[in-house]
Amino acid sequence: MIVTLTNQKGGCGKSTATMNLALGTAALNYKTALIDADEQKSCIETLQDHSKQNLSLYEAGRDVDSLAMELKDKFHYIFIDTPPHSHHIMFQAMAVSDFIIIPLQASPLDIRSAKRTIDACEKVQEEVGRRIPCYFLLNRVNPRTNLSKEIGAYIRELYTVPLLQSRLHNRVAYAQSLMHGKSVIEFSRSSDAAVEVTNLLKEVHRIMQDK
Ligand SMILES: Nc1ncnc2c1ncn2[C@@H]1O[C@H](COP(=O)(O)OP(=O)(O)OP(=O)(O)O)[C@@H](O)[C@H]1O
Ligand SMILES: [Mg+2]
Repeated sequence: MIVTLTNQKGGCGKSTATMNLALGTAALNYKTALIDADEQKSCIETLQDHSKQNLSLYEAGRDVDSLAMELKDKFHYIFIDTPPHSHHIMFQAMAVSDFIIIPLQASPLDIRSAKRTIDACEKVQEEVGRRIPCYFLLNRVNPRTNLSKEIGAYIRELYTVPLLQSRLHNRVAYAQSLMHGKSVIEFSRSSDAAVEVTNLLKEVHRIMQDK
């Protein structure tokens, strides 16, 4: 199963979510690969000195599709982190994916700027001739506000892409845990961040298993 996290908008949380999903999946005893297809190498550099059971890291560029296909039978799950702005790499990664997650910050500007990514996602599905489940993931939601309903309605007005029920709030734990090469779950199992990533993992795994 290949899962791509993508959004052409920079800084929306692709790498943070990819690392937490890959680390969380590996901790559930699935053989997991993380392909870092961004030349910034955020995931590789953050995790390379912290070896983990069941998690293998790979770098890729324009060969991301062939690498993912080569690894597909060797792993239960492959998570691909994509760069901002590179249409080509995003396209290649989406084309070999079984599942696409588009992290999105809960602001109208970020929501509107996802249009290019959604258009690319639709084009990829036309080109490969198969439906690829694609979901938004709301990230950096302010825990002290209750904007979720309003934001959900705003997204539904603009797009048909569904929103994952799980969302990630704006929490220092996301940066702090990665400073130690850990997911928020490994860092502090009882934290609010760990609870929301656990819920996200459950939801993503449930959707993939129903597929
Ligand atoms: N839920 C969150 N709470 C707090 N900070 C977050 C959260 N998600 C991401 N961040 C922070 O936001 C910044 C951007 O996150 P990240 O690097 O994951 O985004 P990205 O989409 O991969 O960026 P790029 O497009 O540059 O690759 C980082 O400083 C990260 O620590
Ligand atoms: Mg990134």
